[in-house]
Amino acid sequence: MCGIVGYIGKKEIKNILLNGLKELEYRGYDSAGIAIIQNENMQVFKAVGKLENLERKTKNFKTEGFGIGIGHTRWATHGKPTELNAHPHLGKFSYVVHNGIIENYKELKESLEKKGYQFVSQTDTETIIHLFEENYKKSNDAFKAFKETIAKLKGAFAILLLTKAEPNTIFFAKNGSPLILGKNDENEIFFASSDAPLIGHAKEIVYLEDGEYGYANEKEIRIFRNSKAIEIKFSPLTDDKEFAQKGGYRFFMEKEIYEQSRVVSETIMGRVTQDSIDFDEFDESFFENIENIKICACGTSYHAGLASAYLFERLAKIPCSVEIASEFRYKEPLLNKNTLFIVISQSGETADTLEALKIAKKAGLRTLAVCNVDNSSIVRLADTTVLTRAGIEKGVASTKAFATQMMVLWMLVLYLANLRKNIDKNVFEKEIDAILHTPKILVVKNHLHEKIKRLSKRYLHGHGFFYIGRDLFFPLALEGALKLKEISYLHAEGYPAGEMKHGPIALADPELFTIALMPKNILYEKIKSNVEELSARDSTILAISPYEFELADDFIKTADYNHPMLEFFEMMLIVQLLALEIAVRLGNDVDMPRNLAKSVTVE
Ligand code: M6R
Repeated sequence: MCGIVGYIGKKEIKNILLNGLKELEYRGYDSAGIAIIQNENMQVFKAVGKLENLERKTKNFKTEGFGIGIGHTRWATHGKPTELNAHPHLGKFSYVVHNGIIENYKELKESLEKKGYQFVSQTDTETIIHLFEENYKKSNDAFKAFKETIAKLKGAFAILLLTKAEPNTIFFAKNGSPLILGKNDENEIFFASSDAPLIGHAKEIVYLEDGEYGYANEKEIRIFRNSKAIEIKFSPLTDDKEFAQKGGYRFFMEKEIYEQSRVVSETIMGRVTQDSIDFDEFDESFFENIENIKICACGTSYHAGLASAYLFERLAKIPCSVEIASEFRYKEPLLNKNTLFIVISQSGETADTLEALKIAKKAGLRTLAVCNVDNSSIVRLADTTVLTRAGIEKGVASTKAFATQMMVLWMLVLYLANLRKNIDKNVFEKEIDAILHTPKILVVKNHLHEKIKRLSKRYLHGHGFFYIGRDLFFPLALEGALKLKEISYLHAEGYPAGEMKHGPIALADPELFTIALMPKNILYEKIKSNVEELSARDSTILAISPYEFELADDFIKTADYNHPMLEFFEMMLIVQLLALEIAVRLGNDVDMPRNLAKSVTVE
């Protein structure tokens, strides 16, 4: 999501921070900022938009001699991309940069406001700095105050904090968001949220673990866990930048598949508790008199829309239709003012989706965007937006954007089901349990990935792939097929399993690969018969299911979950990895497949 850097040393601090942020800019760039303390003087600079704006702003600023500094490049989660919302956030004598989300920021903010603290931003991060200064007032001990502050924070964070109270020290903490500390032989200390900014500067690094915190200055680096100082084990740092940006993965797509567990936790964070779902972005009145829902989107986002329609109707009991945006915009649609119009887009710039949104707005419909990029054209136009919080997605083949879209839509379904009293309390609680369990399912298991790598060698030829599924798993079949064709250039189709017999089954022979999504919780017996029909016609079958399937040529066993969405997310991972491994074996450029663009801003 966001990126953070820190520096202690004698070199030109501004340049070190800005160069570090440049390495992280791919993670988020709606605003950026730096704060520096030198000779007890504090300086802060912030700018909205790309880093070049901050570079321009700091053009005439230079440091000489020893100092400390922190920097941040932001990808908005709470509050618009404005200068006030940009990091570092300041108190009276301290600055903080933060990655992640403070879940309990509202309670903390309320209690600090009662004590007279004034908040100038809409961010969760600002609470950290006021809380720190409040704690410092009591003890006059900066480290103690920092320790007490992080003990109060719930959620995910990587934090760097500077204070005039200890002008040569950076305080740091990590929980759920990455943070690395590095040093070299010139007595310089570096911090960053990924290793790319450290390359060429730090010689040795240590990846902080969750729950660790500490402080660093020219004299010492101390790291603590559960109030006890730990022995710091540094390891040498690679000098391959591209490798570091990809976090050691071969492709951004692979990295993004592996990130899904973490980003989906961020999607959920602060929105779901054990017995409720809540969105800061709107209140109940936004949905007054809504009778039905229409969803418009393209590509992967369209598939997320299609899958969610099953949930809107089944759980929230709201009629829901889904249309491909490029079709919708020219069909002269008949629209009704009591329709909620939802657009879904990773980039927020897709021309067809944007046009569909304009049509809906013009017709006076209430509009809601599910989007990953704050301040994008779609976000600016929609009445309200739920941000998916996937962070920048670099791979052209969308993966983590899809996972987070699905999560937002599922939460929205339950929010509406609850609002309209259409869901039984027990069912609602089970759904929440499943939501909270999803990040665990999205952790890629080594043995699964290895199995898919091995399997992939059998699927490099043939005259086509049919991904088949029913119900929710039909849109997932479409998504699996889209992933494969985008990056492998093999022909693949997603099809409703029950529809195969109405034509496509004519294609069945050993060179036709069927990827069968056979979940336990939805229509297992039905899809089993559909796959048997294909097997009888000699199609090569790869079955993905918790149940052994004797007619399968290949089989990927999934876990025995009791909720269809958990099966959905596990199978989503499998089809993503399968596409990746087939494309890798074919020697294709997975991140930049031919003929495609990440953001489709033309018709
Ligand atoms: O940015 P959007 O979600 O609006 O983009 C829509 C499609 O262009 C996008 O999902 C595309 O299909 C991806 N390449 C799929 O992997």
